[in-house]
Amino acid sequence: MEEIQSFLNRKGEEITLRPAEPDDAEGIIKALKSAAPERSYVLMEQFGKDIKAEREYISKLSRSNNLLLVGIAGDNRIIGILEAIQSDGGQRPETAHVLNIGLHLMVDFRGLGIGSRMMQYTEEWAREHQFRELETSVFTTNKRSLNLFRKAGFLNECTKVKRIRIGNEFVDEVVIGKWLD
Ligand SMILES: CC(C)(COP(=O)(O)OP(=O)(O)OC[C@H]1O[C@@H](n2cnc3c(N)ncnc32)[C@H](O)[C@@H]1OP(=O)(O)O)[C@@H](O)C(=O)NCCC(=O)NCCS
Repeated sequence: MEEIQSFLNRKGEEITLRPAEPDDAEGIIKALKSAAPERSYVLMEQFGKDIKAEREYISKLSRSNNLLLVGIAGDNRIIGILEAIQSDGGQRPETAHVLNIGLHLMVDFRGLGIGSRMMQYTEEWAREHQFRELETSVFTTNKRSLNLFRKAGFLNECTKVKRIRIGNEFVDEVVIGKWLD
């Protein structure tokens, strides 16, 4: 597969997808911190850190079994991040075939088909790297995200009832996955 892929989003803007480099650390943090009530907590756990820690994380990440994908707009700004990490850090042979996905786009770049393209890229990458299952967790209130993954062929695996606390409310989280034949 092509490592660097470009396409036009629904507004006709060119978006480029490529694996992240250590120099992307600042841009990634900026994109993740862009205001969003439903921001992906999966990614935030990993990337709520400072630029130095982020640079180190990217340079140490093994590229043969993990994918950190960035979406870049025409002005060279990072507008989206997809992280696909081997389950249990690849330490358990029983789960080494599973790739866990987290995805976040800046608010102005949602609903334009970019998330779907990032998922297509990831699925192709996962197949090339002999993964057998894609998996993610989504709040049941996050309809757009659920739609994105369902459209990509993900099916419900289980629901963790009231798993997530947002202020005084508790919402369910659903684990969804796609088996790669
Ligand atoms: C969830 C997210 C990654 C989706 O990416 P996106 O680029 O906005 O999604 P797409 O434009 O590719 O749309 C994919 C599908 O989602 C659905 N969708 C899009 N916009 C929607 C909206 N406003 N409401 C409900 N469903 C919507 C549609 O079914 C769409 O497919 P279609 O346009 O072909 O009908 C993005 O909105 C985002 O970053 N959200 C905040 C972080 C997050 O929730 N991450 C996911 C948890 S890991």
